[in-house]
Amino acid sequence: MSLEGKVALVTGGGRGIGRAIALRLARDGADVAVNDVNPETASRTAAEVAALGRRSLAVPADVADGAQITDMVHKVMAHFGKIDILVNNAGIGHMRPFLEISDQEWEQMLRINAYGVFKCAQVVAREMVKQRSGRIINMASVAGRQGQHNMCHYSAAKGAVIAMTHTMAKELAPYGILVNALAPGVIDTEIWVHQDEELRAIRSAQTGKTYEKGSAFQHSVKMALLGRPGTAEEVANVAAFLASSDSDFVTGQTINVDGGIYFD
Ligand SMILES: NC(=O)c1ccc[n+]([C@@H]2O[C@H](COP(=O)([O-])OP(=O)(O)OC[C@H]3O[C@@H](n4cnc5c(N)ncnc54)[C@H](O)[C@@H]3O)[C@@H](O)[C@H]2O)c1
Repeated sequence: MSLEGKVALVTGGGRGIGRAIALRLARDGADVAVNDVNPETASRTAAEVAALGRRSLAVPADVADGAQITDMVHKVMAHFGKIDILVNNAGIGHMRPFLEISDQEWEQMLRINAYGVFKCAQVVAREMVKQRSGRIINMASVAGRQGQHNMCHYSAAKGAVIAMTHTMAKELAPYGILVNALAPGVIDTEIWVHQDEELRAIRSAQTGKTYEKGSAFQHSVKMALLGRPGTAEEVANVAAFLASSDSDFVTGQTINVDGGIYFD
């Protein structure tokens, strides 16, 4: 129970990778506050954390909204008295050719996936600075390192997460706060249901052919050396490492969890 006595806040914890991280941190002994924009799924994961014998709290909020983030952090502080681990996982995915991305799509993507990370980290870090300790784990993506077809806005936001991670690590190190990012490859979660649909529609528009459901997802999966998608739990394994004392000398890093992926 390496995280016994620690308090974690996981954003976007209602499903997928965030849920897996919330449950893994709870299994490792942490009490967990579960955020999601969807109050039902936030409560569901919080109940799963409680079923593991840990203290839990659902804190629904939209990470695109600074006032909601401030309110969320106040609630977690009032309930648990501290936050040791912040996992900035909430995010959206969207496939659109570069030439067709609208201003509104760009703004929504950057707002949720980049501003959300910046603001949650800033508000929580102000508390961690007083504690003179803390771990911040930001969810980037291999798309933020390599750039990915049809994801200019997403790649830009995730690239911003990687850059912010390095800056935060530098500025927060004097306070004993370690900041790292994870860059998952293709992970088998519900985000791929609509991404597969969007990608197939883009390819159909380009070729005039129709593509079977799941084929765009499989095409992306095959770019990984390991030839399979990752699981949310495999990302959670590395998040648990970054949350634990096993990574006491690791900060400012972005760790790929991608089965060795090289996008075409
Ligand atoms: N699945 C992948 O292949 C993959 C790859 C690389 C990076 N990622 C990143 O991992 C993170 C989790 O992705 P996932 O695959 O679990 O996706 P998912 O869609 O299954 O889960 C995302 C969760 O975030 C929540 N969320 C979305 N917008 C929010 C907002 N504004 N405020 C609060 N919560 C919000 C959703 O409600 C959902 O519960 C995202 O940041 C995503 O970009 C995923």
